[in-house]
Amino acid sequence: MKESQNHLNHKQRVDLGSFYTPKDIVGLTSSLLQKNVENITDFSIFDSSCGYGSFLTLKIKAKRFIGADVDKQAIDEAKKTTKDVEFFEGNSLQNVARQNYQITDDEKLIMIGNPPYNDTTSIIRQSIKDKSVQDEIDQDIKTRDLGMSFLLSYDKLKANYICVLHPLSYLIKKANFTSLGKLIKNYKLIDGIIISSHEFSDTSRGMAFPILISLYTRDRSGMNYEYVKNYKFQTKERKTFCLNDFDTIVNYISKYPNKKYISDTSKPVAKFYTMRDINALKRSRTFIENDTANTVYVIMDKLPYYCYVDVFKKYADKLPYYFGNCDVIINHEEFEKIKECFIAESVHNNQILKKQFKFRDIPNAGAKIEEYFNKLLRKHIYAAN
Ligand SMILES: C[S@@+](CC[C@H](N)C(=O)[O-])C[C@H]1O[C@@H](n2cnc3c(N)ncnc32)[C@H](O)[C@@H]1O
Repeated sequence: MKESQNHLNHKQRVDLGSFYTPKDIVGLTSSLLQKNVENITDFSIFDSSCGYGSFLTLKIKAKRFIGADVDKQAIDEAKKTTKDVEFFEGNSLQNVARQNYQITDDEKLIMIGNPPYNDTTSIIRQSIKDKSVQDEIDQDIKTRDLGMSFLLSYDKLKANYICVLHPLSYLIKKANFTSLGKLIKNYKLIDGIIISSHEFSDTSRGMAFPILISLYTRDRSGMNYEYVKNYKFQTKERKTFCLNDFDTIVNYISKYPNKKYISDTSKPVAKFYTMRDINALKRSRTFIENDTANTVYVIMDKLPYYCYVDVFKKYADKLPYYFGNCDVIINHEEFEKIKECFIAESVHNNQILKKQFKFRDIPNAGAKIEEYFNKLLRKHIYAAN
């Protein structure tokens, strides 16, 4: 199969982030370009992490097709399956400049592809990363994630359009968004389709997370985080997803260790594990017994919210993959009406809380919670959009 990069073993694949893109996903990229870019024939199309070249077989007519990759063997394979493509071998993040690819300053340029994404600080993967390639990345585009560096390299090349796959978390997590400095200053997202990481057979072992097939245009007014929060993302399954449609738990409680904010008068009544996003919650514990660096101290007033998160965890598996990087969502008004039910449900089912609190039965608590979640998520789980 063309998509499975046969010449690499697992370690090498992780080193290079070499998870090649299936044909239908490449097709979606084509359609985004065709829908949004006028006169594509005037543009040169460049994939600077081209692998076996799947994006260089787009059914589009362009001025030039250019491919580059640090992996020589991948380029050799790409040459066999593509026509009329100019190839360059080397580190696309080192000495980034148009002239390396004989692209002139006035040449209209579209960057395409599926750059590798892996967090270069991640502890697990650090041991098996190819240090030499990472160390040579230009200082001005160095970030903690290889994929973000690729995005910044497209800005350095002054591409007119960028049409690439990247984790949705780059945009929707505020800290990531901010690290995209020049990209968000000089580009605006104008279209995009969210797909599941499970579309890639090689990565489907882990928990599914959302990937965006993005289309950015160079626009000196850039975009701010509000723009992303209001953006109506389309998913491959034809759902619409907008961050501002939801309120999240972070508006009411602290997600992170809060020992220093707890006053003597507000004695904590429970302990909770640090919360990250919904995908992390699926794997992590909720109420805990120990004092650790990850402990969030719960005061009585806030207990219902933590019980809410504890109950939410059970529903999290029903949520579509594209919620994976969001904070726990809540409909505060509806929650207020039945918060006793969440406490009852949590105390009833959580062994740690059970030891600490007396269980008070609330009639139909389970059914009311079920109704609450149905209402909150109906559009995304039960009905067509
Ligand atoms: C996710 S794969 C995508 C390949 C291809 N675009 C596709 O979708 O089928 C990422 C590719 O980036 C290449 N790569 C990783 N680091 C690179 C770097 N610094 N410069 C150029 N290519 C790099 C890998 O060799 C791999 O082929």
